Amino acid sequence: MASVTSLTAHVHQRLTAALTAALPETADADPLLRRSDRADFQANGILALAKKAKANPRDLAAQVVDRVVKGDLIGEIEVSGPGFLNVTVTDRAITETLAARATDPAERLGVPLLDRPGTTVIDYAQPNVAKEMHVGHLRSAVIGDAVMRILEFAGETVVRRHHIGDWGTQFGMLIQYLDEHPHELDRRTPEDTEGTEGAEGAGGTGTGEEAMSNLNRLYKAARTHFDSDEEFKTRARRRVVDLQAGDPATLATWQRFVDESKVYFFSVFEKLDMEIRDADIVGESGYNDMLDETCRLLEESGVAQWSEGALCVFFDDVKGPDGNPVPLIVKKSDGGYGYAATDLSAIRNRVLDLKADTLLYVVDARQSLHFKMVFETARRAGWLDGETTARQLAFGTVLGKDGKPFKTREGETVRLVDLLDEAIDRATAVVREKAGKVGLSEEEIAENGRFVGVGAVKYADLSTSAVRDYKFDLDQMVSLNGDTSVYLQYAYARVQSILRKAGDARPQAHPELALAPAERALGLHLDQFGELVLDVATGYEPHKLAAYLYQLASHLTTFYDQCQVLSDANPKEVVENRLFLVDLTARTLHQGMALLGIRTPDRL
Ligand code: ARG
Repeated sequence: MASVTSLTAHVHQRLTAALTAALPETADADPLLRRSDRADFQANGILALAKKAKANPRDLAAQVVDRVVKGDLIGEIEVSGPGFLNVTVTDRAITETLAARATDPAERLGVPLLDRPGTTVIDYAQPNVAKEMHVGHLRSAVIGDAVMRILEFAGETVVRRHHIGDWGTQFGMLIQYLDEHPHELDRRTPEDTEGTEGAEGAGGTGTGEEAMSNLNRLYKAARTHFDSDEEFKTRARRRVVDLQAGDPATLATWQRFVDESKVYFFSVFEKLDMEIRDADIVGESGYNDMLDETCRLLEESGVAQWSEGALCVFFDDVKGPDGNPVPLIVKKSDGGYGYAATDLSAIRNRVLDLKADTLLYVVDARQSLHFKMVFETARRAGWLDGETTARQLAFGTVLGKDGKPFKTREGETVRLVDLLDEAIDRATAVVREKAGKVGLSEEEIAENGRFVGVGAVKYADLSTSAVRDYKFDLDQMVSLNGDTSVYLQYAYARVQSILRKAGDARPQAHPELALAPAERALGLHLDQFGELVLDVATGYEPHKLAAYLYQLASHLTTFYDQCQVLSDANPKEVVENRLFLVDLTARTLHQGMALLGIRTPDRL
């Protein structure tokens, strides 16, 4: 982390130098520096190092204190307890270090790049063709988008893959039905039907919803036919065979389903304020050409075996309730390929063609067994080795207020669009309440309502660890108090309002000024941003970023309580230095929220 300019890094360097001087025989002496409540930092590494060197820990700690250069960076350092070190940095060092970040020429607020960036393929936002998107798809999209942004910001090369469900036997029934009822997918507004290649822009105004409601109606009608009409069932099954054989007319009809669904997907992603690029949508069908070879390779290498007519991979530790092994089926006894064959082919593509070092899958925890078996199979086949890692970023279930899986009162899955619309409605009401004071126009109220509503949904999802289930509670999500996105958005807007009111006074660091306790606390927290972002990028844990930002906003609130920014009683330098602190806080909030995919309006 060569370019880190944080206090932590500087203090770490100083202590390591002193430790190495005190223990010349010990290589890589790590002081184990942590933030602390008692001082600014605490070094916890002396005890273990002393034990190794057969020295008295308090003596060793005292030697370090003697050797450390004091004054410019380290203000106070003292031995505490059995051999800890308490370190307090100078106010000057805090302001100077922050000033360096604020003027970072790379405009990254001093956030360093990963030491050894590589290529990550991230599989996220993967809805299914001809099906409504639900809250599970929301989680994959929101978490995946945040992880993707964080990785890119940290310098990783990221390839996005939206593994949409666009293949399978259900298409036989759909295609056959549409052939027999050719107008079922027609739009009511003729100008909307012209071409879907521009689907990216075609969201917004009901077009996507209309596409989905047509698809829904068709799906239900086809299903009813399929279940009640034996002859239709036979025709539908024949259609599956045609589809798999690549019959051009059948494929053309299939393509209509995919295109219509994409119009719908894009409208939802647009509502989610999320950029999904058509070129990154490589659905299950995208791997069709590889399936034969994938199975052949697995069979030839002995990784897969035939069992009861199916090509299977077995695992010692995967057993069903009856104690019998449960295999991963790569080719079914009817000759068809399933979900697993597609995922195994996708791994080959991602590792061998896209040259991924890391494969990430943002998928529901209920698919964990599937991925465990798929990854293990790929390892046995040699497609994944020590150089490449595959990891499922599993997420938990979205629960209703009652703690049960989120359903409508009628027991149906909640439509994602309805949910987002409701969040936006509530957020708009919250925005409107304060709009008069800020002087917002109707247009601005609507725009802010969207940013706050969608932000609330994203933040609620991202602020708890992904593996945990979370309660979908709109009242809590748009609350102005507590750990919510709107609290953070207000913190940002409040700073912008101060900056607007500051007149000629500009943010300007004055390292010569002594800092008030609330200024120090805010400054020390700001200082951690760079290391935190890298930590979040390495561990794929956006919730830690959310927690950091919430703490930052809380420090800002305390700072306002204790320190006036624009007061006539303040000397000019104090005003400038405080403006500098709040401005850097706002820029950090903005950058952090952007990494989570959440907007920060200037006026709220
Ligand atoms: N379309 C699937 C679903 O809705 C998720 C796909 C996950 N990605 C994958 N490579 N299997 O459940």
